[in-house]
Amino acid sequence: MTDGIALDAGATDNIDTGNPDTVNPDNGTTDPDTGNNTNNTNTGSSDTGTTDNGSDTSTNLPAITVPDVLPPLPSPPLTPAPNTSNEPVPVTGPVSTVSEFFLVRDPYGKLPDDTSADLTLEDFNLGPLPAVVTTPSDVNPTINTPPYFINLENPTVFAGDVLEVLFDPEDDNGTRPGMFPNYLRDGWSLVDNLNNTRTFRWQPLQPDVGIHEFKITAVDEAAPLYRTEQTIRIQVLLPADESAIPNLPPVVDEIRPHTTKFNDPVVMTILVNDPNGTVPTLEIVNPPPGATITPHHAEPNVSILRFVPQTTGVLTIDAIARDSVDTTLTGTQTFTIDVRDASFFQREGTALRDIATARNFRLGYASLLDFYYRPDGAIYAQTAAREFNFVTTENSLKWSYINPLPGIYRFAAADNLVSFARLKGMEIHGHTLVWHVQLPDWLKTSAPETREGHMREFIDRIMTRYADDIPIWDVVNEVFENDGTYRESLWFEAMGLNYIDIAFKQARLSAPNARLIYNDNDVSWAGPKANAMFDMLQGMQDRNTPIDGVGFQMHIFTDFDKFDEVEANFQRAADLDLDVYITELDVSKISGGTDEQQAVVYERVLDICLKQPRCKGLQTWGFTDMYSWRSEFEPLLLDEKYQVKPAYTAFQRRLLEN
Ligand code: GLA
Repeated sequence: MTDGIALDAGATDNIDTGNPDTVNPDNGTTDPDTGNNTNNTNTGSSDTGTTDNGSDTSTNLPAITVPDVLPPLPSPPLTPAPNTSNEPVPVTGPVSTVSEFFLVRDPYGKLPDDTSADLTLEDFNLGPLPAVVTTPSDVNPTINTPPYFINLENPTVFAGDVLEVLFDPEDDNGTRPGMFPNYLRDGWSLVDNLNNTRTFRWQPLQPDVGIHEFKITAVDEAAPLYRTEQTIRIQVLLPADESAIPNLPPVVDEIRPHTTKFNDPVVMTILVNDPNGTVPTLEIVNPPPGATITPHHAEPNVSILRFVPQTTGVLTIDAIARDSVDTTLTGTQTFTIDVRDASFFQREGTALRDIATARNFRLGYASLLDFYYRPDGAIYAQTAAREFNFVTTENSLKWSYINPLPGIYRFAAADNLVSFARLKGMEIHGHTLVWHVQLPDWLKTSAPETREGHMREFIDRIMTRYADDIPIWDVVNEVFENDGTYRESLWFEAMGLNYIDIAFKQARLSAPNARLIYNDNDVSWAGPKANAMFDMLQGMQDRNTPIDGVGFQMHIFTDFDKFDEVEANFQRAADLDLDVYITELDVSKISGGTDEQQAVVYERVLDICLKQPRCKGLQTWGFTDMYSWRSEFEPLLLDEKYQVKPAYTAFQRRLLEN
C-alpha cells in the first residue's frame, strides 16, 4: 500500500531515498536500515537490556588524534558545492494542499540512478563467490563438516525467459542440510522440490537487464547455526527479438484510505507502473467535481489528482492504468477518502502547544517528508501547528535524501519545512548529519581516505545553508552497538574514533551559534551502551570537543518500566553539563498492550523530562498513527484519523501540572 511517491524523490525504487512511501509502503514513513527495527525488542522493553554498570568499553579503542583546529576544508572540494543550479524553484499548479506559504520544489527532472554500487559484468565473470561459512563455537568442523551447495554457476538469461537454478545442498557427514534465501525480490521464488532441493525461479523482463545477485544459506541439519552462505550472480540480456517477451498488464499503486477535513484540498499522488518498463496512461473513472489531474514535473509515472471535496462522507475514486503498447491490458485501483466535518477534529481542553509554550517547554514532532503532497496534508499541517512548538526533520536532511548524487542537492523539502515552521512560529531541530545509514551509494562506495573530507563538506554545506533557521542539530547519530562497542560504520572504518570529534568540531565551525547534540537509541536506561556513551561524552569534554547536549531517542514499548534508570541517565547527562532532549519518543503497543498503558508510559517519560531542569525538549516521532515507522503498533498520541488517544490526554494533564 502506498500514497504514491513523494514529489522530488529521485528514484522510486531506491530504499535509501528517504521517500517514505516507497520505503515502507505500509505505514507511510521510513526506516530503511536503521538497525532500529521492531524485531529488536532490546529497544525499551522491560525484559531486556542489562543493568551492568561497569564499563569495559574504553579498552583497546583506537587513539583519538584530532587537531585542536581542523585543517581547511578540501580544496578543490571533493564534490561540487551547492550553487544556483540546485536552488529550488516555485511550485506552480494545483499539486499541493498548501495555501498559506510559498512552496518550492527541486529544480530537476527525473534524476539519474546512482549506479555507483551496481554490479558489473566483471563481477558476473568472477563466477560464484567463495562460500562464507559461519561456525558456532560449539561445532568442531573436523567432526561436523559444513554444508555446501553443489554445481553452482552464474547463469545468463534473456529477458522474457524463465530462469531456473537448482539448489542442492550437501554435507559430507551424510546429513541433509536445509536452506533459506537471504532475500527474495518481487518476482523471485524458491520452489521446494520436496527432495531436499529447491529451485530458484524468475522471469526477468526488460527493466531487469543487467547483473543481479542472489544469496542463499545452507543450514547444517545437526547444528542449525552452522551455516554456509553462497552468492550467485545472474546476467539478464535483452533478446534480439523483443516481441517474444511477454507483455504484462500495468498496475496502479494502492493508496491507503485517508481521513480529511471538509473544505480542505486533497491531493493524491498516483503512481502507475508497467513491469515491462513502459509508461502506462492513467484514467480516473469518477473524478470528484472540480478535480484536476496534473502530470508530475519530474516523474513520468506519476500524476497528481487534486480536488476540494464538496460533501462530507466517504469518497470513492476508481483509477485505471492502461498499457501503452496493448491498450486492452489494464490495472485498476480504488481509493477512498473519508471527508469529515471540522467538528470531528476538535479536541477538548487546551492544545498541547499552548500549555507547553506557557511553561517554556519545547514540545515537538518529527515531520513527515513532503506532508503537503499527502491526501490529508492539510489536516496534518493544521494539527502539527496546533499541537507543537518544535519540529524535527524525519528524513528531509538525511544524506541519501538531500544529496543523492555528487553535486545534486534536494533542498526543497527542508526549505518548505523551514517556511512552514517560520509561519507557525515553531523552532526546528535538524536531524541528522553523521549516521551510518540512509547514505547514498556514491558515498558508501567512496574511498575511505576521502570520507573525512566528504563528511566535513556535508556538515558545512547543510549547516551553513540552514544556520539562520535551525538552532539545534543532531550532529552524530548512533555510534554504538547495543553492547557498547563502537559500531564499525563506514565512518569508523575511515577515521577510527576521530570522526566523532571531527564532526562536532566542524559543526561548531560551520554554525557557531547552534546547539550540538549527540543522539542515540537505547541509552536512556542503564547498561553497557549508556555507559559507553557517557564515557565518550566525558572524553569529548576532556578534549574540549564542542558538544551541548544528548538526544535520547526513546523508541519504547507499552511494557517499559525503567523510569528510574531514565531519570538517572538524564541526571548523568546534566552532571556533565549537557542539555537533555528526548528526540524520538514513541511507545509501541506490544501484543496485549493497551492505549491506557501507553498513556502511562508517555506521561511518566514526560514527567521525568519536566522534572529535570536540563531537559530542554521532548519530540515524539510523528504524531498520528497514520504516519509512523511503527504504524502497526499504533505508537503515537493521535490515531490514524487524528483522534485523541489516552496518551494525548495524559500529556495534556501532565503539562498542566507543575
Ligand atoms: C533512528 C533515526 C531516525 C529514524 C528512526 C526510525 O532512530 O535516528 O531518524 O530513522 O531510527 O524511523
